[in-house]
Amino acid sequence: MLLHFGSVPTLVVSTAKAAQEIMKTHDASTCSKPNLPIPNILFYNCKGVAFSPYGERWRQLKSIMVLKLLSNTRVKSYQKVREDEVVRMIHMLGESHGATIDMGSVFSSVANNIICRVAIGKKLDGVKHITMLRKFMELLVLFSVGNFFPWLSWVDRIVGSVGRAEKLAKEVDEFLEGIVEERINKNKGEDEDDDESDKLGEDFLDILLDVQKNNTTGFTLDRDSLKVILLEAIIGGTHTTNTSLEWAISEIIRNPRVMKKLQKEITEATQGRSMIFEEDLDKMPYLKAVIKESLRLHTLAPLLPRKTTQDITLMGYNIAAGTQVIINAWAIGRDPNSWDEPNDFRPERFLNSTMNYQGLQYEWLTFGSGRRMCPGIQFSAALLELLLANIIYKFDITLPNGIKNEDLDMSETNGITTDKKSRLLVLLSPRF
Ligand code: HEM
Repeated sequence: MLLHFGSVPTLVVSTAKAAQEIMKTHDASTCSKPNLPIPNILFYNCKGVAFSPYGERWRQLKSIMVLKLLSNTRVKSYQKVREDEVVRMIHMLGESHGATIDMGSVFSSVANNIICRVAIGKKLDGVKHITMLRKFMELLVLFSVGNFFPWLSWVDRIVGSVGRAEKLAKEVDEFLEGIVEERINKNKGEDEDDDESDKLGEDFLDILLDVQKNNTTGFTLDRDSLKVILLEAIIGGTHTTNTSLEWAISEIIRNPRVMKKLQKEITEATQGRSMIFEEDLDKMPYLKAVIKESLRLHTLAPLLPRKTTQDITLMGYNIAAGTQVIINAWAIGRDPNSWDEPNDFRPERFLNSTMNYQGLQYEWLTFGSGRRMCPGIQFSAALLELLLANIIYKFDITLPNGIKNEDLDMSETNGITTDKKSRLLVLLSPRF
């Protein structure tokens, strides 16, 4: 349907067929991004990948992300970091001795530790920086009027979101600037050895500084772009992991049948070992199906914004250049024309199915599709599987205060991402 948000024509796409026309047939003419006021402030006037307009600059930055930071080989090389942090998390949870646990904050902290070690070579130190990034995320995912109704952007200023975004953007920049400067100074003091064999031990910052220094493509990676890529990775890698896992665990709690089946699969594959490592995950098809089904039901980025840069004809309708397009991935993931019993949590639908994360099946757009597709898929899949498998293997999970499984609150927030409205509080008891 075509809506008019003030002067901005907005095409809302809610079927797989129409999404395919946009994201495949007309991808090149529709993959720019509308100017979203709060992300614009938070991400250096959209100098990064996620919110920037389509063009040569975006293409260069995206290829750095895809080929240099998040390629399969790179993601594999971070295995040790993932396993290290998961062991730490399991150990910490094992000491909880019946206390109520806020799973969101546990996942958030382990995901943040992992992505920060991978991106900047160390975990965030101190409450100040952790709080800063939490506030950053809260502001980013908050429902901002200006994101959807550009002519009402002034409302964001009146309610204070713009002021808060400007203040936070400054704080985050000081933090990132400090980290980049520190690394440059450290590198200056060291003998700069370009030995290729050591390259896989590098973090994102090393790689980006290397791209900056050894500019072979004629593209200059300026300091702001370097910082915004680090920021997008840290933000992308933290919030999505914690929210996906909160939803997955919530669904598993509400479906004890799934919990039992999953524990059986994991226990058999692990053969009595005390931890699950990444090599074990290939023996766990049901685990993978549970994660996919949870990502389908709880589409993390529910409304994918795009902007047309050329006139196109879509299903017989003429769509003008400059039209804002919103792909309603949430509705597509629950469309009864594509999915049997779409509101039921049934991981079995993904067993023996050809559905994968590559964005070629338009009824399932968890990671988007086409040129704007998420570059963090391998990174996330590896992490979600490892974290979920270990939690389910090591603990029985119940709800506190006698809340029944079926009464667990599943309400969602509105905003850039679909988060759980209430915190997921649980009790964990060791299984052995
Ligand atoms: C469960 C985890 C994740 C989910 C569900 C997810 C989902 C998405 C979706 C739906 C998009 C938008 C696609 C579009 O506009 O068509 C996206 C874009 C993006 N994601 Fe992810 N993401 C996840 C993890 C990550 C991670 C770990 C990173 C980085 C380390 C990341 C970085 C990005 C970036 C930079 C973009 C912008 C791509 C572009 O505009 O070209 N994401 N993601």
